[in-house]
Amino acid sequence: MKVFILGATGFIGLPAAEAFVRAGHIVYGTSRSEKTAAEKLGPREILPVVVDVFSEEGKKKWGKIAAKCDVVIDALSANGAKPAVDTFHNFLDYLDRPKGSPKPTYIYTSGLWIMTRGYGGLEKWTDERQPTTTYNESVQWRPLIEGPVLDSEKVHGIVIRGAVVYGRDGSGIGSYIFDEALKASKTEEKIFETIYKEDTRIASIHTDDMADLYLRVAERGPICRGQIFLASNQFSERLTDILDAVVRVSGCKGYRHKRPQGSSQEAWTSTTLAKPSLGDALTGWKPKKMSLVDGMDIYWSAYLANKKLQKL
Ligand SMILES: NC(=O)c1ccc[n+]([C@@H]2O[C@H](COP(=O)([O-])OP(=O)(O)OC[C@H]3O[C@@H](n4cnc5c(N)ncnc54)[C@H](OP(=O)(O)O)[C@@H]3O)[C@@H](O)[C@H]2O)c1
Repeated sequence: MKVFILGATGFIGLPAAEAFVRAGHIVYGTSRSEKTAAEKLGPREILPVVVDVFSEEGKKKWGKIAAKCDVVIDALSANGAKPAVDTFHNFLDYLDRPKGSPKPTYIYTSGLWIMTRGYGGLEKWTDERQPTTTYNESVQWRPLIEGPVLDSEKVHGIVIRGAVVYGRDGSGIGSYIFDEALKASKTEEKIFETIYKEDTRIASIHTDDMADLYLRVAERGPICRGQIFLASNQFSERLTDILDAVVRVSGCKGYRHKRPQGSSQEAWTSTTLAKPSLGDALTGWKPKKMSLVDGMDIYWSAYLANKKLQKL
């Protein structure tokens, strides 16, 4: 297959692009930066497309290449519904296959916070068959792009909703927890500040396991079309257990509560209880990585190694 990944240098996009390369596909990946493309894409056998994906010139350039591909994945950082819808429409505008040709697959990367119901018993659990919720204000725009992708007649439209993704440089775990712990580990007090609630439980997934889901779903586009997949482990983890594990590996002595500011930070402390099964049922997908708490020694040292690389 020819695969086109928007946001291929990103936390989710890069491991996904590598998974397609390893599986023998021809992979194109975008970056706005020549330097990042040269460092991250080319050496990994990902064909770099250096563009600002939202500019008029950039839209023309990537639209023409993507139109020749069998799978297009939007793994750009979240900027609200309009840029995501415009991106999808740009691809459709350039799509020009002869009548009767196979349809391409379009995968939009969404998030699990659109299904959050908070902490509690079985009534709070969700999976692929359950509807979205209004619990987290910051992600209420997601259905505005998910709907058009899933309903499109022109593509095999698929949505992958990611849980809190971990591994490598940490992403949200990095910015909300690791960065604060690293800073505090160099102080005398060794107490880091972070946002949490005593009962917060998070659904999580390693970025390599999520990459494997993209690959499996994309290769089965015609039978996965119109479906939403949850990229999440089968279990939730208590946020304070994760924080205790960070205390253990970082040399800190403890942590202190920081008040969340704004709806994104509120979402970080929300409890999402999910038990995905569609990825396994349709593609045989099973996450393999250790949980955040169990694998914390690995994830903390990978985070530190990435910090060093960023400074070079
Ligand atoms: N990370 C998570 O834990 C997580 C969890 C659930 C869902 N998601 C969702 O998954 C998607 C991808 O997330 P991510 O964490 O992988 O994103 P990311 O690493 O922050 O960004 C992905 C890529 O998007 C490009 N980009 C960033 N800002 C841009 C802009 N203003 N214009 C054009 N390109 C831009 C960057 O590529 P260049 O700089 O090379 O151009 C970047 O490498 C988002 O919708 C996010 O909400 C993420």
